[in-house]
Parts: sequence; structure tokens; C-alpha cells
Amino acid sequence: MKIRFGADYYPEHWPYTRWETDARLMSEMGLNAVRMAEFSWVKMEPTIGVFDFEWLDRAISILGSYNIKTVLGTPTATPPAWLIEQSPEILPIDSSGITRGFGGRHHNCQSNQTYRIHIGRIIEAMAKHYVDNPHVVGWQIDNEFGNSHEDVCHCSSCKAAFHQWLLRKYVDINSLNAQWGTVFWSQTYSNFEQIPTPKITLNAHNPSMLLDWKRFHSDLIVEFQQFQIDILRRICTKHFITHNFMGFSDIVDYFKLAECLDFVSHDQYPMGFFDNPQPMKQPSKLAAALDLIRGLKQKNFWIMEQQAGPTGWQILSRTPRPGQLRLWVTQAVAHGAEAVVFFRWRTCSFGTEQYWHGILPHSGNPGERYNELKETITELVPLMNEIEGASSGAEVAILYSYEQNWALEIQPHHPDLDYVEHTLKYYAAFFNTKVPVDFINASVDFSKYKLVIAPLHFLMSSEMYMQFENYIRQGGHLLLTMRTGVKNMENVCMTDRELPGEVGNLLGIEIKDYDCLREMDMGVMFHGKHYRCNKWCDIITPITAKVVATYTEDYYAGMAAITVTATGKGKAYYVGTEPDGELMDEIVKWLVETCELSSIGSAPIGVELVRRRTDKSDFIFALNHTGKVQTLNAPEDWQPMKCGSEMEPYGMSVFKIKR
Ligand code: GLA
Ligand code: ZN
Repeated sequence: MKIRFGADYYPEHWPYTRWETDARLMSEMGLNAVRMAEFSWVKMEPTIGVFDFEWLDRAISILGSYNIKTVLGTPTATPPAWLIEQSPEILPIDSSGITRGFGGRHHNCQSNQTYRIHIGRIIEAMAKHYVDNPHVVGWQIDNEFGNSHEDVCHCSSCKAAFHQWLLRKYVDINSLNAQWGTVFWSQTYSNFEQIPTPKITLNAHNPSMLLDWKRFHSDLIVEFQQFQIDILRRICTKHFITHNFMGFSDIVDYFKLAECLDFVSHDQYPMGFFDNPQPMKQPSKLAAALDLIRGLKQKNFWIMEQQAGPTGWQILSRTPRPGQLRLWVTQAVAHGAEAVVFFRWRTCSFGTEQYWHGILPHSGNPGERYNELKETITELVPLMNEIEGASSGAEVAILYSYEQNWALEIQPHHPDLDYVEHTLKYYAAFFNTKVPVDFINASVDFSKYKLVIAPLHFLMSSEMYMQFENYIRQGGHLLLTMRTGVKNMENVCMTDRELPGEVGNLLGIEIKDYDCLREMDMGVMFHGKHYRCNKWCDIITPITAKVVATYTEDYYAGMAAITVTATGKGKAYYVGTEPDGELMDEIVKWLVETCELSSIGSAPIGVELVRRRTDKSDFIFALNHTGKVQTLNAPEDWQPMKCGSEMEPYGMSVFKIKR
């Protein structure tokens, strides 16, 4: 049987006598998978080289007797105390030069070769032990790469690895000096060894160095994952390998991290974490995270951790309202999740995550959450079987780039400018218009899409320019936004010509002036109506472009804010500012018309429409993200499969359309 639903299970947190009850309750609610052991290093290797898999074998076999398969995590996020005692040099060093101590998790340096020996030993032992276990089906590498990695590591091993990375890229130090512009503030290096990691300094580091550091750091994590994958692929040839990603996390280039995995998994917590308590208030953000995850391999995915109750460590989220857990699971499935694993099975009574609630409460007695999810599983499994392998059929793509994000993190221009937020404004407007969107990187053939949006394409390469040009000439619609083409790939300002550089040819514009909107916004006239925009204004001089919106205030009142140009068989659009929500909705309505995009249908505000497309049919999911009853005006050819036009608070309906 296909794996559809599972739970993250920690049998070692509970007495052995409880395990059978857990397995029975899981199987009764329709779970057929668990993920285990991703933090259990010390239980599997209590002292160096002495392995104890007996407890895990027992758990796997009890679960197996209830037809529950096991995904094993490599436990490399939690090096045990004995390992730190023996090899304290594996602890990471932060940018202040402080060694981060044992405790919490991820207290390890990714490049340290001693650590590699230790992880090689435990992974190889696990792989050899479980290669032929009939209940083990696959592996999760480590846990949430990028989580806790922001400010680490600045140890001598990472510094040397950075130097090697730079040497491979620049070959000789003079080339690095020239490309980074180290003559500025007397930072010229006479050898690679002199180059620091970006530890705290009195003033800001060179932006080119910072960008290369972010690239290096991301590559290091990808290589750290590859080290583990290589061991597993050598031994466990029949098992799948995945990793649990975190939506819009920005530490690792997720497209690269996804490359060597069989499929991507994602952790979806609509009630969020401490710093962002209520992402579910913006359902478009939840949807976007799922679409990004699907975009990483252009392939459907797993949810490895799906919120199963209130979240919390020291501070708690609200309690999901009846129906919300079901709604969010359905949303994940609608966007391409082929299996959903809930975090976690039972709420733990000790440790950091005592209040991160699982399907079962502390007491272990099944309650409302168990019942709601059990019903959800019963209704979704047949549907998931029917839509297996389906795609979005999107006509619009957002070109998503970690490098652009990093460059703008280094120099955000406006204190509130954020690559992800800017990008999600476009996404949200398409979401409101019920037009599906895919996220892609430059390796994807643009010609599959009628419209490609490349937000804040700040760093420009000649390859990217060619790709843009070919796409437009062959009939594509390309939308570029403010601060496009400002820099080369080394994060150095382009000086050959006026902004936006070579892409100005495609756009038919020049930008000779701009204004950072500090503590103010700006008026825009678009199609005869007044709107507002924020953060930045590129003051556009049209060359061959047609002006579709102008600024209405200050010394550049009447100058172009948005333009469009026909080039070859296609069109190039430029939006020189960050439109507010209302203007963005209008721009997107205009794009839907001019690019002849098809909307899934209409639905009230707060009701999301998602499409899964198979050869024969379209499946339309209507998801009510509001706490109110909503009525859908479903067209006649939408045959209801679940519920129908009347939607309960947090309810969902599914329709089928023959193609
Ligand atoms: C993350 C981790 C889990 C757990 C949850 C809840 O998503 O992957 O191990 O820590 O958060 O905090
Ligand atoms: Zn290090």
C-alpha cells in the first residue's frame, strides 16, 4: 500500500509497554508510516563504536506488524555529549568568535573532518543494520538544514574550506581582488589565507565577500548532505532519500539541496513559530510555501512534519479551531503533497518541546485532534490515489533565486525591503485572482509558461539575459521589477550603461534616477485611478516602451512607474516600485487579460481555489480559510466529489471537471 499518512514518532520517549498501543491507535486512524530516530544518536550509539539498535528494531517491528513503514532519520543534528567531550572542536563558532556549547541541537560544524568520521560511523552502522529490514523504506538526512545555521560556523576548518572554495572560483588572488573591489578601504589580499570569514567588525564587510560567503555556506551544507547520501546510496540501494525543508528559509539554496534527493519533504506549521505567530492569517503564504517546495524538483513532495496541534516551546500558538487541521492537510495535498506525516504523534512530557502538541495530548488518550485527523485521512486517501502524480497546470511562473535574496539581504536598500515578501506580493495577487503559479529556477524551460515573473532580479548574468531574451522573442511575457540588472554576479554595480543595463534593450527603458521611499509612500496613477506604492521608485525613462502607470507626487510626478514593450513575439513588463495590495491586484488583473491567463474560477475572499491536473480531469479544491460559512458559485461542469457549494467554517470542497 502507498504511504499516504504518518507520524513523527519518538518511541524512546515512552515506556516500551506503550508502543503496541501507539501502533494500534496509529493504524486505526489510517497512518501507515512513521519517521523515527532523527535525534536518537545517543540511544543508538551510547558510547563510541558501541551500537544498540535493539530498542529501535523492536519499535520498527511492532509498528511493522500493524503495516506501518519506517523512515529513518540520520541523527546528525544531535551529536551526543560523549562526542563533544571527546572532540570539542566540532562545536560551531559564531560570528562573535564565541563557541556555541552543547545543548539544544545542531551544535556541530558542517566542515569539521573529525565530525565527518563520527557521522560516517553512525550512518554506516544504521545503513548496514537496516538495509534488509522489510519495514524500513527510506531515509531523511539530518533535520531542517539551515535551521540554527545562520551565524555559524567561523572555526578554522570552515575558514580553510572557505579559502578552498574561493581558490576554486577565482584561481588567483589578483582575480579575487579585482572582482571584489578590495582596493576599497585597503582590503587587498596578497594570499587566500588572509581572507577572513565575516566575523563581527566595526563596520560592514565588503558586499562581494558577503555574497560569496553565503554561497559557500550554502554549498557546504549541500556537500554535508551529499556526504551522508553517498554512504546511504552505497549500502541501501532500494531506499528513498529525502530531507525536510522549511518553506522560505533562506540559508541554503534549496534548488541545489533538492538535486540529489529522490523527492523533497517539507515541514508545514500554519500557526508558525515564535517570531511569526500567525502565518495562517495569510493563507496565500501557506500556499506559496507549498508551491515553492513543489517547484524545487518540479515534482510532488511529502510533508514530513504537518502541524497536528498547538505549537510552542516557551510560548504557545493558539489552538487550531475545529476543522483547521483538516483544512491545512487538505491544502498540502491540493498543492502536491503525496504523503503527509504529522508532527508529532504524542505530545512529549519533557525536553524543549513539551508544548509542541502532537496528535495525542500528554495523556496519550485520543481526543478531538485524533478524531478530526482520522476522518480527514479516511476522506483524503481515495482522492490522493486518484490524483497521484497530478500537476498544477500553471501558466504563470515566478523565477525564485536564492542569490538575489542573499544580495538583497546584504543590502536591502529600504529597511523593510525583503525579497521573499516582495515576491509573495505578486504571488498573493495571483492567489486572489485564483490563477495558479509555479515557482521555478533558471534551469526550467520558460517556454512552458505564458508569463514569467522575475522579481528583484538585482544580479544579472549574460546567460540570464540570453534566457530572458529568447523567451520574450519566442512569444513569452516576462515581468521584471524594480532594481533589476543593478549588479553583476559578484555583487558589484554595473557601469557599462544606464540602468537596468542590457535588459533595458528588452524593456525599452532606461532608469537614470531613483528614490528610496524612507518613511513615506508614493502615489501611482494606473489606468486612470490612484493607488499607492512603497519602498522604492525607479524613475523610468521610456525609450520604446509604452507607459502604463506614472508617479503622481514630488519632483518625478508624471514620470513612468510601470511600462510594457513588445519585443519579438512577446512582451516585457517593468514595474519600478513595490505596489501596495490594491495596486498589485489591479496589475495582476491586467496581466491576466494581456497574457490571456485562465483563472480556475471565482470564489469569495478567504476561499482558496487550487487545481490538480491529470490527463483526464481537473480536480478543484476549494478551501475555506475563514471561520465563517461560505457559498461557492460553482459552475455546472464542476461535479462535487466532497461537500459542495455550501462550505462550513474552515471547510473544504472538491470538484472534478472532465477535460
Ligand atoms: C521543527 C523540527 C522538529 C521540531 C519542530 C517543532 O520543524 O524539524 O524536530 O523541533 O520544529 O519545534
Ligand atoms: Zn566550522
